[in-house]
Amino acid sequence: MKIQFVEAPSEAASRIVARVVNQDSTPPDLEPVLAQAAKASRFTGKAGQLFEGFAERDGKVVRVALAGLGAPSARDRATAIERAGAAITAKYLAAGESALLLDLSGAGLSAEEAASLLLAARLRGWRHDSYRTKLSDEQKKSLQTVEVVGAPAGTDAAWAAQEAVAQGVEFTRELVTEPANVIYPESFVERCRERMKDTGLEIRVLDEAEMRGLGMGALLGVAQGSVRAPRILAMVWNGGPQDGRPMAFVGKGVTFDTGGISIKPAAGMEDMKWDMGGAGAVAGAMLAIALGKLEANVVGVCGLVENMPGGKAQRPGDVVTTMSGQTVEVINTDAEGRLVLCDAMTWVQKEYDPAAIVDLATLTGAMIIALGHEYAGMFCNDDDLAGQLDAAGAAVGDRLWRFPLGPAYDKMIESPIADMKNVGPRYGGSITAAQFLQRYVENGTPWAHLDIAGTVWTDKPGTTWDKGASGFGVRLIDRYVKDNLVGK
Ligand code: BES
Ligand code: MN
Ligand code: ZN
Repeated sequence: MKIQFVEAPSEAASRIVARVVNQDSTPPDLEPVLAQAAKASRFTGKAGQLFEGFAERDGKVVRVALAGLGAPSARDRATAIERAGAAITAKYLAAGESALLLDLSGAGLSAEEAASLLLAARLRGWRHDSYRTKLSDEQKKSLQTVEVVGAPAGTDAAWAAQEAVAQGVEFTRELVTEPANVIYPESFVERCRERMKDTGLEIRVLDEAEMRGLGMGALLGVAQGSVRAPRILAMVWNGGPQDGRPMAFVGKGVTFDTGGISIKPAAGMEDMKWDMGGAGAVAGAMLAIALGKLEANVVGVCGLVENMPGGKAQRPGDVVTTMSGQTVEVINTDAEGRLVLCDAMTWVQKEYDPAAIVDLATLTGAMIIALGHEYAGMFCNDDDLAGQLDAAGAAVGDRLWRFPLGPAYDKMIESPIADMKNVGPRYGGSITAAQFLQRYVENGTPWAHLDIAGTVWTDKPGTTWDKGASGFGVRLIDRYVKDNLVGK
Protein backbone atom coordinates (compact mmCIF):
# COMPACT_ATOMS: atom_id res chain seq x y z
CA MET A 1 0.00 0.00 0.00
CA LYS A 2 1.34 3.42 -0.83
CA ILE A 3 0.78 6.90 0.49
CA GLN A 4 0.51 9.71 -2.06
CA PHE A 5 0.24 13.43 -1.54
CA VAL A 6 -2.15 14.89 -4.11
CA GLU A 7 -3.71 18.23 -5.06
CA ALA A 8 -7.03 16.65 -5.87
CA PRO A 9 -8.20 13.05 -5.52
CA SER A 10 -8.11 10.69 -8.46
CA GLU A 11 -11.32 9.13 -9.71
CA ALA A 12 -10.39 5.91 -7.86
CA ALA A 13 -10.07 7.72 -4.55
CA SER A 14 -13.27 9.71 -4.83
CA ARG A 15 -15.65 7.13 -3.36
CA ILE A 16 -14.20 6.92 0.15
CA VAL A 17 -13.23 10.08 1.98
CA ALA A 18 -11.72 9.81 5.45
CA ARG A 19 -11.29 12.66 7.91
CA VAL A 20 -9.61 12.68 11.31
CA VAL A 21 -11.34 14.54 14.10
CA ASN A 22 -10.51 15.52 17.65
CA GLN A 23 -12.77 14.40 20.44
CA ASP A 24 -16.12 16.23 20.61
CA SER A 25 -15.61 18.14 17.39
CA THR A 26 -16.75 17.63 13.83
CA PRO A 27 -15.35 19.34 10.74
CA PRO A 28 -17.29 22.58 10.19
CA ASP A 29 -17.62 21.84 6.47
CA LEU A 30 -19.21 18.43 7.02
CA GLU A 31 -22.77 17.90 5.77
CA PRO A 32 -25.10 18.51 8.78
CA VAL A 33 -26.79 15.17 8.19
CA LEU A 34 -23.45 13.39 8.62
CA ALA A 35 -22.60 15.35 11.75
CA GLN A 36 -25.98 14.37 13.18
CA ALA A 37 -25.59 10.77 12.10
CA ALA A 38 -22.20 10.58 13.76
CA LYS A 39 -23.70 11.90 16.96
CA ALA A 40 -26.67 9.55 16.73
CA SER A 41 -24.34 6.57 16.43
CA ARG A 42 -22.48 7.77 19.52
CA PHE A 43 -19.33 8.71 17.70
CA THR A 44 -17.45 11.16 19.91
CA GLY A 45 -14.00 11.13 18.31
CA LYS A 46 -12.42 8.93 20.95
CA ALA A 47 -9.04 7.59 19.88
CA GLY A 48 -9.39 4.91 17.25
CA GLN A 49 -13.19 5.22 17.02
CA LEU A 50 -14.51 5.14 13.48
CA PHE A 51 -17.78 6.37 12.03
CA GLU A 52 -18.94 5.68 8.51
CA GLY A 53 -21.78 7.51 6.79
CA PHE A 54 -22.86 8.21 3.24
CA ALA A 55 -23.27 11.48 1.46
CA GLU A 56 -24.24 12.59 -2.00
CA ARG A 57 -21.47 14.71 -3.48
CA ASP A 58 -21.48 15.87 -7.12
CA GLY A 59 -24.33 13.46 -7.82
CA LYS A 60 -22.40 10.45 -6.53
CA VAL A 61 -22.59 8.41 -3.37
CA VAL A 62 -19.49 8.90 -1.22
CA ARG A 63 -18.56 6.90 1.86
CA VAL A 64 -17.43 9.36 4.50
CA ALA A 65 -15.38 8.11 7.41
CA LEU A 66 -14.52 9.99 10.58
CA ALA A 67 -11.64 8.62 12.63
CA GLY A 68 -11.23 9.75 16.24
CA LEU A 69 -8.00 11.35 17.46
CA GLY A 70 -9.10 11.68 21.08
CA ALA A 71 -8.47 14.89 23.01
CA PRO A 72 -5.58 17.07 21.72
CA SER A 73 -4.16 17.34 25.25
CA ALA A 74 -4.31 13.60 26.01
CA ARG A 75 -1.16 12.16 27.55
CA ASP A 76 -1.10 9.32 25.04
CA ARG A 77 -1.69 11.61 22.06
CA ALA A 78 1.01 9.91 19.97
CA THR A 79 -0.69 6.52 20.29
CA ALA A 80 -4.10 8.06 19.71
CA ILE A 81 -2.91 9.56 16.43
CA GLU A 82 -1.61 6.16 15.32
CA ARG A 83 -4.89 4.52 16.27
CA ALA A 84 -6.82 6.95 14.07
CA GLY A 85 -4.61 6.29 11.06
CA ALA A 86 -4.71 2.55 11.58
CA ALA A 87 -8.49 2.47 12.03
CA ILE A 88 -8.98 3.89 8.55
CA THR A 89 -6.92 1.35 6.64
CA ALA A 90 -8.13 -1.53 8.82
CA LYS A 91 -11.69 -0.60 7.88
CA TYR A 92 -11.14 -0.17 4.14
CA LEU A 93 -8.45 -2.73 3.41
CA ALA A 94 -10.88 -5.07 1.70
CA ALA A 95 -13.73 -2.69 0.95
CA GLY A 96 -13.54 -3.22 -2.80
CA GLU A 97 -11.91 0.13 -3.60
CA SER A 98 -8.30 0.44 -4.71
CA ALA A 99 -7.86 3.92 -3.24
CA LEU A 100 -9.26 6.25 -0.65
CA LEU A 101 -8.86 9.92 0.08
CA LEU A 102 -7.55 10.99 3.47
CA ASP A 103 -8.28 14.63 4.26
CA LEU A 104 -6.09 15.81 7.14
CA SER A 105 -7.23 19.42 7.09
CA GLY A 106 -8.61 21.06 10.19
CA ALA A 107 -7.31 18.54 12.73
CA GLY A 108 -4.46 20.77 13.90
CA LEU A 109 -1.79 18.10 13.50
CA SER A 110 1.90 18.95 13.15
CA ALA A 111 3.83 17.57 10.19
CA GLU A 112 5.44 14.98 12.47
CA GLU A 113 2.07 13.93 13.84
CA ALA A 114 0.59 13.69 10.36
CA ALA A 115 3.50 11.48 9.29
CA SER A 116 2.97 9.19 12.31
CA LEU A 117 -0.67 8.91 11.40
CA LEU A 118 0.33 7.92 7.87
CA LEU A 119 2.86 5.39 9.19
CA ALA A 120 0.15 3.73 11.25
CA ALA A 121 -2.23 3.72 8.27
CA ARG A 122 0.42 2.12 6.11
CA LEU A 123 1.47 -0.50 8.68
CA ARG A 124 -2.11 -1.51 9.44
CA GLY A 125 -2.68 -1.87 5.69
CA TRP A 126 -0.01 -4.57 5.32
CA ARG A 127 -1.07 -8.11 4.59
CA HIS A 128 0.64 -11.25 3.34
CA ASP A 129 -1.77 -12.93 0.93
CA SER A 130 0.49 -14.47 -1.66
CA TYR A 131 -0.33 -18.10 -0.78
CA ARG A 132 -4.09 -17.55 -0.71
CA THR A 133 -5.17 -18.33 -4.25
CA LYS A 134 -8.85 -18.93 -3.54
CA LEU A 135 -9.96 -15.82 -1.66
CA SER A 136 -13.33 -14.49 -2.76
CA ASP A 137 -13.48 -10.94 -4.06
CA GLU A 138 -14.90 -9.68 -0.77
CA GLN A 139 -12.01 -11.17 1.15
CA LYS A 140 -9.26 -9.88 -1.09
CA LYS A 141 -7.23 -6.87 -0.08
CA SER A 142 -8.26 -4.12 -2.47
CA LEU A 143 -6.72 -0.96 -1.05
CA GLN A 144 -3.52 0.02 -2.87
CA THR A 145 -3.25 3.75 -2.35
CA VAL A 146 -4.09 6.34 0.26
CA GLU A 147 -4.25 9.76 -1.35
CA VAL A 148 -3.62 12.57 1.11
CA VAL A 149 -4.87 16.14 0.99
CA GLY A 150 -4.82 18.90 3.59
CA ALA A 151 -1.62 17.72 5.26
CA PRO A 152 0.31 20.39 7.19
CA ALA A 153 3.40 21.90 5.50
CA GLY A 154 6.43 19.63 5.79
CA THR A 155 4.46 16.39 6.03
CA ASP A 156 6.00 15.02 2.83
CA ALA A 157 9.54 15.30 4.26
CA ALA A 158 8.44 13.83 7.59
CA TRP A 159 6.72 11.04 5.71
CA ALA A 160 9.83 10.25 3.68
CA ALA A 161 11.59 9.44 6.97
CA GLN A 162 8.68 7.36 8.23
CA GLU A 163 8.36 5.51 4.94
CA ALA A 164 11.83 4.08 5.50
CA VAL A 165 10.59 2.73 8.83
CA ALA A 166 7.48 1.30 7.18
CA GLN A 167 9.61 -0.58 4.67
CA GLY A 168 11.72 -2.01 7.46
CA VAL A 169 8.72 -3.20 9.45
CA GLU A 170 7.13 -4.69 6.35
CA PHE A 171 10.31 -6.54 5.44
CA THR A 172 10.49 -8.03 8.94
CA ARG A 173 6.85 -9.11 8.78
CA GLU A 174 7.47 -10.75 5.43
CA LEU A 175 10.47 -12.70 6.72
CA VAL A 176 8.64 -13.78 9.87
CA THR A 177 5.45 -14.76 8.03
CA GLU A 178 7.14 -16.92 5.40
CA PRO A 179 7.06 -20.63 6.24
CA ALA A 180 10.24 -22.53 7.04
CA ASN A 181 10.29 -24.35 3.69
CA VAL A 182 10.67 -20.93 2.07
CA ILE A 183 12.84 -19.07 4.59
CA TYR A 184 15.83 -21.08 5.82
CA PRO A 185 19.34 -19.78 6.49
CA GLU A 186 20.46 -19.51 2.86
CA SER A 187 17.20 -18.10 1.54
CA PHE A 188 17.03 -15.64 4.45
CA VAL A 189 20.38 -14.30 3.30
CA GLU A 190 19.24 -14.16 -0.34
CA ARG A 191 16.03 -12.29 0.57
CA CYS A 192 18.15 -9.74 2.43
CA ARG A 193 20.66 -9.40 -0.39
CA GLU A 194 17.88 -8.71 -2.86
CA ARG A 195 15.98 -6.29 -0.66
CA MET A 196 19.12 -4.44 0.42
CA LYS A 197 20.59 -4.00 -3.04
CA ASP A 198 21.49 -0.34 -3.73
CA THR A 199 20.78 0.75 -0.16
CA GLY A 200 24.43 1.25 0.74
CA LEU A 201 24.38 -1.64 3.22
CA GLU A 202 27.45 -3.84 3.10
CA ILE A 203 26.49 -7.52 3.32
CA ARG A 204 28.87 -10.13 4.72
CA VAL A 205 28.08 -13.81 4.94
CA LEU A 206 29.90 -16.62 6.74
CA ASP A 207 29.37 -20.19 5.54
CA GLU A 208 29.80 -23.39 7.48
CA ALA A 209 33.48 -23.85 6.67
CA GLU A 210 34.32 -20.32 7.78
CA MET A 211 32.37 -20.79 10.99
CA ARG A 212 34.19 -24.04 11.65
CA GLY A 213 37.49 -22.22 11.13
CA LEU A 214 36.42 -19.62 13.68
CA GLY A 215 35.49 -22.28 16.21
CA MET A 216 31.75 -21.60 16.43
CA GLY A 217 31.08 -24.99 17.97
CA ALA A 218 27.85 -24.00 19.71
CA LEU A 219 26.13 -22.59 16.62
CA LEU A 220 27.37 -25.48 14.48
CA GLY A 221 26.21 -28.00 17.09
CA VAL A 222 22.65 -26.75 16.64
CA ALA A 223 22.94 -26.71 12.87
CA GLN A 224 24.29 -30.25 12.52
CA GLY A 225 20.90 -31.95 12.89
CA SER A 226 19.56 -30.25 9.76
CA VAL A 227 20.29 -30.63 6.05
CA ARG A 228 19.99 -26.84 5.77
CA ALA A 229 23.40 -25.17 6.02
CA PRO A 230 23.79 -22.44 8.66
CA ARG A 231 24.86 -18.87 7.95
CA ILE A 232 26.03 -15.79 9.77
CA LEU A 233 24.74 -12.67 8.06
CA ALA A 234 26.20 -9.25 8.83
CA MET A 235 24.68 -6.03 7.51
CA VAL A 236 26.97 -3.07 7.99
CA TRP A 237 25.86 0.57 7.86
CA ASN A 238 28.54 3.24 8.09
CA GLY A 239 26.44 6.38 8.22
CA GLY A 240 28.29 7.96 11.11
CA PRO A 241 31.78 9.34 11.83
CA GLN A 242 34.55 7.37 10.09
CA ASP A 243 36.37 6.17 13.19
CA GLY A 244 33.33 5.71 15.42
CA ARG A 245 32.75 2.33 17.09
CA PRO A 246 29.49 0.86 15.83
CA MET A 247 26.41 -0.14 17.73
CA ALA A 248 25.68 -3.86 17.26
CA PHE A 249 22.32 -5.59 17.00
CA VAL A 250 22.33 -9.38 17.06
CA GLY A 251 19.29 -11.50 16.13
CA LYS A 252 18.36 -15.11 16.83
CA GLY A 253 17.55 -16.62 13.46
CA VAL A 254 16.36 -20.17 14.09
CA THR A 255 14.37 -20.57 10.88
CA PHE A 256 12.59 -23.55 12.39
CA ASP A 257 12.82 -24.91 15.92
CA THR A 258 11.67 -28.50 16.31
CA GLY A 259 13.58 -28.65 19.58
CA GLY A 260 16.08 -31.08 18.07
CA ILE A 261 16.47 -34.41 19.88
CA SER A 262 14.75 -32.79 22.90
CA ILE A 263 11.84 -32.57 20.49
CA LYS A 264 8.83 -30.31 21.05
CA PRO A 265 5.27 -31.67 21.21
CA ALA A 266 3.38 -31.63 17.88
CA ALA A 267 0.62 -29.24 18.97
CA GLY A 268 1.56 -25.72 17.96
CA MET A 269 4.97 -26.65 16.61
CA GLU A 270 4.13 -24.80 13.38
CA ASP A 271 4.57 -21.58 15.38
CA MET A 272 8.28 -22.26 15.46
CA LYS A 273 8.65 -20.91 11.93
CA TRP A 274 8.84 -17.52 13.61
CA ASP A 275 11.75 -18.49 15.83
CA MET A 276 13.80 -16.27 13.52
CA GLY A 277 11.87 -13.17 14.67
CA GLY A 278 14.94 -11.62 16.28
CA ALA A 279 16.95 -11.97 13.08
CA GLY A 280 13.95 -10.69 11.13
CA ALA A 281 13.75 -7.60 13.33
CA VAL A 282 17.48 -6.92 12.94
CA ALA A 283 17.26 -7.25 9.15
CA GLY A 284 14.20 -4.98 8.94
CA ALA A 285 15.80 -2.42 11.25
CA MET A 286 19.00 -2.35 9.18
CA LEU A 287 16.88 -1.76 6.08
CA ALA A 288 15.05 1.10 7.80
CA ILE A 289 18.32 2.64 9.00
CA ALA A 290 19.85 2.48 5.52
CA LEU A 291 16.77 3.76 3.69
CA GLY A 292 16.51 6.55 6.25
CA LYS A 293 20.21 7.31 5.72
CA LEU A 294 20.71 7.64 9.48
CA GLU A 295 23.99 9.23 10.50
CA ALA A 296 25.21 6.42 12.73
CA ASN A 297 27.46 3.37 12.55
CA VAL A 298 25.44 0.24 13.04
CA VAL A 299 26.09 -3.42 12.39
CA GLY A 300 23.33 -6.02 12.37
CA VAL A 301 24.24 -9.69 12.76
CA CYS A 302 21.92 -12.66 12.30
CA GLY A 303 22.77 -16.16 13.49
CA LEU A 304 20.85 -18.39 11.08
CA VAL A 305 20.26 -22.11 11.66
CA GLU A 306 17.53 -24.72 11.55
CA ASN A 307 17.11 -26.85 14.69
CA MET A 308 16.24 -30.37 13.52
CA PRO A 309 16.55 -33.88 15.02
CA GLY A 310 18.39 -35.47 12.08
CA GLY A 311 20.71 -38.46 12.36
CA LYS A 312 23.68 -36.18 12.87
CA ALA A 313 21.91 -34.05 15.47
CA GLN A 314 23.66 -33.22 18.71
CA ARG A 315 22.60 -35.22 21.77
CA PRO A 316 21.68 -34.10 25.26
CA GLY A 317 24.90 -34.30 27.25
CA ASP A 318 27.16 -33.33 24.35
CA VAL A 319 29.82 -30.77 25.21
CA VAL A 320 30.57 -28.07 22.64
CA THR A 321 33.29 -25.44 22.52
CA THR A 322 32.12 -21.94 21.67
CA MET A 323 34.08 -19.38 19.67
CA SER A 324 34.89 -17.63 22.96
CA GLY A 325 36.71 -20.76 24.13
CA GLN A 326 34.16 -21.44 26.86
CA THR A 327 32.60 -24.90 26.86
CA VAL A 328 28.91 -25.77 27.19
CA GLU A 329 27.18 -28.95 28.24
CA VAL A 330 24.06 -29.22 26.08
CA ILE A 331 21.47 -30.54 28.54
CA ASN A 332 18.50 -29.70 26.33
CA THR A 333 18.81 -29.33 22.56
CA ASP A 334 15.67 -27.17 22.61
CA ALA A 335 17.57 -24.40 24.41
CA GLU A 336 19.28 -23.71 21.08
CA GLY A 337 18.81 -19.97 20.73
CA ARG A 338 21.46 -19.12 23.30
CA LEU A 339 23.86 -21.54 21.57
CA VAL A 340 23.42 -19.66 18.32
CA LEU A 341 23.58 -16.20 19.87
CA CYS A 342 26.70 -16.79 21.97
CA ASP A 343 28.86 -17.43 18.91
CA ALA A 344 27.28 -14.58 16.97
CA MET A 345 27.98 -12.27 19.93
CA THR A 346 31.60 -13.34 20.21
CA TRP A 347 32.07 -12.87 16.48
CA VAL A 348 30.62 -9.36 16.37
CA GLN A 349 32.81 -8.32 19.30
CA LYS A 350 36.01 -9.70 17.74
CA GLU A 351 35.17 -8.31 14.32
CA TYR A 352 33.64 -4.89 15.04
CA ASP A 353 34.53 -3.92 18.63
CA PRO A 354 31.04 -2.47 19.16
CA ALA A 355 30.35 0.29 21.68
CA ALA A 356 27.24 -1.57 22.83
CA ILE A 357 25.30 -4.71 21.90
CA VAL A 358 21.58 -5.37 21.86
CA ASP A 359 20.39 -8.86 21.02
CA LEU A 360 16.82 -9.73 20.07
CA ALA A 361 15.57 -13.29 20.39
CA THR A 362 12.47 -15.41 20.71
CA LEU A 363 14.42 -17.11 23.44
CA THR A 364 12.08 -18.59 26.04
CA GLY A 365 8.50 -19.73 26.43
CA ALA A 366 8.85 -18.59 30.04
CA MET A 367 8.89 -14.99 28.78
CA ILE A 368 5.35 -15.44 27.48
CA ILE A 369 4.27 -16.91 30.81
CA ALA A 370 5.64 -13.79 32.53
CA LEU A 371 4.53 -10.98 30.22
CA GLY A 372 1.97 -12.40 27.82
CA HIS A 373 2.01 -10.71 24.46
CA GLU A 374 2.09 -7.08 25.57
CA TYR A 375 5.69 -6.40 26.58
CA ALA A 376 9.02 -7.96 25.67
CA GLY A 377 11.48 -8.74 28.43
CA MET A 378 14.68 -6.72 28.77
CA PHE A 379 17.84 -7.89 30.54
CA CYS A 380 20.64 -5.36 30.73
CA ASN A 381 24.02 -4.82 32.38
CA ASP A 382 23.89 -1.03 32.02
CA ASP A 383 21.26 1.32 33.46
CA ASP A 384 21.81 4.02 30.84
CA LEU A 385 21.32 1.62 27.95
CA ALA A 386 18.27 0.11 29.68
CA GLY A 387 16.74 3.56 30.12
CA GLN A 388 17.36 4.50 26.51
CA LEU A 389 15.85 1.29 25.16
CA ASP A 390 12.89 1.56 27.49
CA ALA A 391 12.20 5.13 26.31
CA ALA A 392 12.58 4.23 22.64
CA GLY A 393 10.22 1.29 23.00
CA ALA A 394 7.61 3.30 24.87
CA ALA A 395 7.73 6.04 22.21
CA VAL A 396 6.89 3.67 19.37
CA GLY A 397 4.73 1.08 21.10
CA ASP A 398 7.34 -1.73 21.23
CA ARG A 399 7.14 -1.92 25.01
CA LEU A 400 9.84 -3.42 27.21
CA TRP A 401 9.83 -4.58 30.83
CA ARG A 402 13.14 -4.98 32.62
CA PHE A 403 14.05 -8.17 34.51
CA PRO A 404 16.90 -8.78 36.96
CA LEU A 405 20.29 -10.37 36.40
CA GLY A 406 22.66 -11.46 39.15
CA PRO A 407 25.16 -13.99 40.51
CA ALA A 408 22.50 -16.12 42.20
CA TYR A 409 20.90 -16.74 38.80
CA ASP A 410 24.25 -17.18 37.11
CA LYS A 411 25.14 -20.00 39.50
CA MET A 412 22.13 -21.97 38.28
CA ILE A 413 23.82 -22.79 34.96
CA GLU A 414 26.99 -24.29 36.37
CA SER A 415 27.86 -27.71 34.93
CA PRO A 416 29.75 -30.58 36.53
CA ILE A 417 31.60 -31.32 33.28
CA ALA A 418 31.91 -28.06 31.32
CA ASP A 419 32.09 -24.29 31.96
CA MET A 420 28.31 -24.05 31.93
CA LYS A 421 25.20 -25.92 30.89
CA ASN A 422 22.69 -24.54 28.45
CA VAL A 423 19.67 -24.67 30.77
CA GLY A 424 19.00 -23.92 34.41
CA PRO A 425 16.27 -25.30 36.66
CA ARG A 426 12.61 -24.86 35.70
CA TYR A 427 11.98 -21.56 37.48
CA GLY A 428 13.40 -18.27 36.26
CA GLY A 429 14.03 -19.75 32.82
CA SER A 430 14.12 -16.43 30.97
CA ILE A 431 16.63 -15.04 33.44
CA THR A 432 19.01 -18.00 33.36
CA ALA A 433 18.90 -17.80 29.56
CA ALA A 434 19.98 -14.17 29.82
CA GLN A 435 22.73 -15.12 32.30
CA PHE A 436 24.03 -17.58 29.74
CA LEU A 437 24.27 -14.81 27.13
CA GLN A 438 25.92 -12.42 29.57
CA ARG A 439 28.83 -14.84 29.88
CA TYR A 440 29.67 -13.95 26.26
CA VAL A 441 29.80 -10.19 26.79
CA GLU A 442 33.44 -9.08 26.82
CA ASN A 443 35.04 -6.33 28.91
CA GLY A 444 31.74 -5.19 30.42
CA THR A 445 30.48 -3.83 27.10
CA PRO A 446 27.01 -2.34 27.61
CA TRP A 447 24.63 -5.05 26.51
CA ALA A 448 20.91 -5.70 26.51
CA HIS A 449 19.05 -8.86 25.70
CA LEU A 450 15.45 -8.48 24.52
CA ASP A 451 13.40 -11.65 24.82
CA ILE A 452 10.71 -11.07 22.19
CA ALA A 453 9.13 -14.56 22.30
CA GLY A 454 5.70 -13.13 23.12
CA THR A 455 5.65 -10.14 20.81
CA VAL A 456 6.86 -11.13 17.33
CA TRP A 457 3.60 -12.88 16.55
CA THR A 458 0.12 -12.22 17.89
CA ASP A 459 -3.24 -13.87 17.49
CA LYS A 460 -5.15 -10.63 17.84
CA PRO A 461 -4.75 -7.29 16.05
CA GLY A 462 -2.74 -4.53 17.76
CA THR A 463 -2.59 -0.79 17.08
CA THR A 464 -0.63 -1.01 13.86
CA TRP A 465 -0.73 -4.70 13.04
CA ASP A 466 -3.30 -7.34 12.20
CA LYS A 467 -2.97 -10.78 13.75
CA GLY A 468 0.24 -12.47 12.66
CA ALA A 469 3.72 -11.02 12.42
CA SER A 470 3.93 -7.69 14.26
CA GLY A 471 7.36 -6.49 13.14
CA PHE A 472 8.21 -5.92 16.80
CA GLY A 473 11.67 -4.47 17.35
CA VAL A 474 12.14 -2.57 14.11
CA ARG A 475 10.60 0.69 15.28
CA LEU A 476 12.30 0.26 18.65
CA ILE A 477 15.77 -0.04 17.09
CA ASP A 478 15.10 2.78 14.64
CA ARG A 479 13.96 5.09 17.45
CA TYR A 480 16.89 4.08 19.65
CA VAL A 481 19.38 4.89 16.88
CA LYS A 482 17.71 8.21 16.05
CA ASP A 483 17.52 9.35 19.67
CA ASN A 484 20.89 8.13 20.96
CA LEU A 485 23.37 7.73 18.10
CA VAL A 486 22.50 10.18 15.32
CA GLY A 487 24.43 13.42 15.77
CA LYS A 488 26.34 12.07 18.78
N1 BES B 1 12.13 -20.86 20.53
C1 BES B 1 11.92 -21.37 21.83
C2 BES B 1 11.22 -20.37 22.74
C3 BES B 1 9.79 -20.10 22.42
C4 BES B 1 8.80 -20.97 22.85
C5 BES B 1 9.43 -18.98 21.73
C6 BES B 1 7.48 -20.72 22.57
C7 BES B 1 8.11 -18.72 21.45
C8 BES B 1 7.13 -19.60 21.87
C9 BES B 1 13.26 -21.75 22.47
O1 BES B 1 14.22 -22.20 21.59
C10 BES B 1 12.97 -22.85 23.42
O2 BES B 1 12.58 -23.90 22.97
N2 BES B 1 13.15 -22.59 24.70
C11 BES B 1 12.88 -23.55 25.71
C12 BES B 1 13.99 -23.48 26.72
C13 BES B 1 13.98 -24.61 27.69
C14 BES B 1 14.34 -25.90 26.99
C15 BES B 1 14.96 -24.30 28.78
C16 BES B 1 11.53 -23.22 26.34
O3 BES B 1 11.22 -22.05 26.49
O4 BES B 1 10.78 -24.15 26.62
MN1 MN C 1 14.07 -24.26 21.23
ZN1 ZN D 1 14.08 -21.54 19.69
